[in-house]
Amino acid sequence: MKILDACTLTIFGVGGNLSQRKLIPALFRLEMAMRLPEQLVILGCDIAVHDHDAWIGFVAGILHGIYQKDIDEAALQRFCRRWHYLAIPPGDDAAYGRLAELLQGGGFPPNMVYYMAVRPADYPAIVDKLGNAGLLRQNGGWRRVVIEKPFGYDLLSAQTLQSSLYKHLDEPQIYRIDHYLGKGTVQNVMVFRFANLLLEPLWNHHYIDHVQITHSEIHGIENRADYYEGAGALRDMIQSHLLQLLTLVAMEPPVSLSAEHLRDEKVKVLKSIRPITQNSVHAHAFRGQYSDGIVEGKSVPGYLEEKGVAPESVTETYAALKLFIDNWRWAGVPFYLRTGKRLAENSSAICIRFKNPPQDLLHRNNHQGHSQPNWIMLGIQPNDCLKVELQVKVPGLDLLTRTLSLDATYHKDNDDDFDAYASLLLDVMQGDHSLFLRMDEVEAAWRVVDPVLKVWAMERDFINTYPAGSWGPRGTYRLFDRDDQFWRHSLNPDGADLQAY
Ligand code: BG6
Repeated sequence: MKILDACTLTIFGVGGNLSQRKLIPALFRLEMAMRLPEQLVILGCDIAVHDHDAWIGFVAGILHGIYQKDIDEAALQRFCRRWHYLAIPPGDDAAYGRLAELLQGGGFPPNMVYYMAVRPADYPAIVDKLGNAGLLRQNGGWRRVVIEKPFGYDLLSAQTLQSSLYKHLDEPQIYRIDHYLGKGTVQNVMVFRFANLLLEPLWNHHYIDHVQITHSEIHGIENRADYYEGAGALRDMIQSHLLQLLTLVAMEPPVSLSAEHLRDEKVKVLKSIRPITQNSVHAHAFRGQYSDGIVEGKSVPGYLEEKGVAPESVTETYAALKLFIDNWRWAGVPFYLRTGKRLAENSSAICIRFKNPPQDLLHRNNHQGHSQPNWIMLGIQPNDCLKVELQVKVPGLDLLTRTLSLDATYHKDNDDDFDAYASLLLDVMQGDHSLFLRMDEVEAAWRVVDPVLKVWAMERDFINTYPAGSWGPRGTYRLFDRDDQFWRHSLNPDGADLQAY
């Protein structure tokens, strides 16, 4: 275990959704596991005015809510001692002067991480103010800035944001976070591929029929209309998280696992994705919006009834894409990506379907009357698992076949469970960029989705809807290349035959 430098972590937007749901719990999880640097000081900044005790009470309240009676009180006390709070009310130009005085006035280790847990529109202004206050100069310690996704709104705005960051920061100081890359199962995609030679000969267009990457949620947009209305599902999930998963499935083995080698290979995949021309957007992309429905037995409102959503909004809460990677390995293999809010289940998975055998000797010998392909499935959440589906003979006198699911679930109950943010926060403190996005990666990802965003932005009169609690709009099936391709909703063997409704 590497000993980490003493450092100060300043979180902007510390009272917001991301910080309450992810950052504070992840930092506390590291505290309980004794993985935080001994001399880590945390400074929370936000617009509301709190005194120190009220803020500590708020942090403790969040953690009591999560851990309830199992909370480790000694760890909680250690954790609370690390915290300071500074109010930065909007329009208070003197606030950054106060911040500089505080940080430079002793008691705060000079190595600094600044975490932007604020609205994307606020990133440039905060970085500018930090820079002007001299807080980004690396004298006497390092300075690192963590930028949350989405990085920009499209290619052009991402480049503009980048130029504004470069006024004060060098590339090695910037950590563009995509928290999906911190999930253990996502990293397991690389282990699975590059530590198991038997897969390599099969991992190409000769044997793979298509790949599906899904992230579905039962939740609606909760209280995030302000952000979500301007983002939509394609920007929120596909441009970042799902395209990252696609790169891990499709990339060539890197020279090493160093940050640059890894990212070089991911960028090559993104650059090989066949551009979607504006004329072909409808053949490659599908969007939808949830209407009211039933989720977990309860009636829930439609998107248009959510607080803060414009009455005629056509923001998509469901998006699906069909992509082709034009290189030797993947020529002709469709990659289907889909995500949605208020779908039937919380589930994220990569499902890889193999081709049928060249001669279908046994198609009459199963209940379906057609041959069943092999699948490899990597479940990311809620349960991380690895399943392989094979065809076997049913015991008995007849030559009947059925699907056997080999379940190589590797997670045991007593395994240490760390949220993606916990591992990524440690990486930032260690200065490891491997699981953060390089600018060329971000640009290449925007190039993939930009044409779709442009067409959708022009088509403002109509959007398909789907009932909350379903598996999304029916029309999404038109993306499939053939009749025998369909969304795989479940990782159980019978899931291969489930249709959308
Ligand atoms: C975030 C999106 O990046 O990822 C959210 O903004 C989404 O809309 C979330 O719900 C999903 O991540 P996780 O790790 O909570 O499944």
